[in-house]
Amino acid sequence: MGNRQCSLGGNLGGVSLGFLVDFLRLDGFFARGYTTKKLQGFAADCSLTAKKPFATDGIAVFSDRAVVSDRSLRICLELPLIPCFSSVLSFGFSLKLSMTSSSNSESELGFGTQSVHAGEARQKPNDAITDSICCASTYTFESTQSILDYLKENHDREEYGRYGNPNEKVVERKLAVLEGAEDAILYSSGMAAIVGLLMCKLSAGDEIIFFDQCYHRSREFCVKHLSRFGVVTHQVKTGDMGAMESAINSKTKMLVSESPTNPHLTVIDLEAFVAIGKRHGIETLIDSTLATPYNLKPIAWGVDYVWHSATKYMGGHNDLLAGVICGSKQKLEPVRKLRGILGSINSPHNMYLLERGLKTFALRMERHNHNGQRIAEFLESHPRVQRVYYPGLKSHPSHAFAKKTMKGFSGLITFLVKDADWKQTAAIIDKCKIPRIGPSLGGVESLIEQPMVMSYFDYPIEQREQFGIYDNMIRMAVGIEDTDDLIEDLRQALEAR
Ligand SMILES: Cc1ncc(COP(=O)(O)O)c(C=O)c1O
Repeated sequence: MGNRQCSLGGNLGGVSLGFLVDFLRLDGFFARGYTTKKLQGFAADCSLTAKKPFATDGIAVFSDRAVVSDRSLRICLELPLIPCFSSVLSFGFSLKLSMTSSSNSESELGFGTQSVHAGEARQKPNDAITDSICCASTYTFESTQSILDYLKENHDREEYGRYGNPNEKVVERKLAVLEGAEDAILYSSGMAAIVGLLMCKLSAGDEIIFFDQCYHRSREFCVKHLSRFGVVTHQVKTGDMGAMESAINSKTKMLVSESPTNPHLTVIDLEAFVAIGKRHGIETLIDSTLATPYNLKPIAWGVDYVWHSATKYMGGHNDLLAGVICGSKQKLEPVRKLRGILGSINSPHNMYLLERGLKTFALRMERHNHNGQRIAEFLESHPRVQRVYYPGLKSHPSHAFAKKTMKGFSGLITFLVKDADWKQTAAIIDKCKIPRIGPSLGGVESLIEQPMVMSYFDYPIEQREQFGIYDNMIRMAVGIEDTDDLIEDLRQALEAR
């Protein structure tokens, strides 16, 4: 049940007068399914507070005048006025509504149902099953009064495209439900998301601590750029909770980890990580891109912020860039305001693609998990493979934490080819017929690459080895193709001479 409140004011001069009322954020409520009778029932739930008592019986609510656009419901209330009431009403009144909202129960649905339905209006403009792409850079007001109402009542409507758009809002609501978070803010890329969050949360003199396997561009942003604004970055060995705690001082504002990490697939003991943050009153952030909310729910472990490159599994089709930060409404409120200034927003078209990608999120993740596990097991058993990094394998150093925190282990696998130099390793990649060669992960198409060539070609070998990037390392982002086809393809590539 959700309580929605709305104020009406106005001069009622005639025998009957129609009021257009904006009931905003009526999650899951839809007008067309509501017959006049139901709307009358709905109106009967209204408690009217006027200067003098006023019966609700006199209200007729016409379903054919109830319009829903996304989450805004406009209902035309016709008030037959008995002359003696007109003086009462001329002072205006406020109308309180109680109604059932489906959004609160969305958190109880299964992940697959949430992926398909959560965050969306049940009945959409034009009665379409899909959300229309709303291509507006600005949004208009009926009158000056409606601007004032919007500002005073903090109505949830659009104003200007840099602050958000209806397509983005649908996806934000869906992602918040999937992540088990109060709120989610979308950005135009994963990097735009972390930059937006850190720019909001850190000030000159503050310090931030990263585990050293966190996505390298996020560390680079802090080391090279936030440093220019007086923010100090510390990097400690991934998973070394003692080192992280020792690096904390009175200026520390945030602890950051990825889980699992890329490309070593190290899984963090979230319980210990969160406990450090809580002990010192410091906020925690997890880059959960590789896990996805299908496999891991950092907020349920007590993490403050969850960060995703939605470009990866969430989009799922290698056709969009987006990023998201999930967390509590209170913590994210200033972050959203800053996004409105930074302008790292998503186009409605991009959000349509992301919403569409998310419809099959659960199905895709199930398949990525399945393929990932089977292919990792195949690779581990192959004589040409020296070592496999996959958290679903017992041989992985963080298998225990993976089992403790994750439902499945996603589709990213890293492995070392036995006795191979970088060219022999590259030859295996070039022989693969199904996975395409390229960076990124999380799409339906499998991708394969050699991190030394793709991401670290400019680094001297000593530095690469310090990062654990070896010349004979291959990273495969397993897609959703048939498992046996992928295994046979890898077998022929490994065994070709
Ligand atoms: C784990 C991880 N986090 C964050 C990012 C950044 O996301 P984006 O490329 O969408 O900016 C990436 C990109 O590769 C990533 O792999």
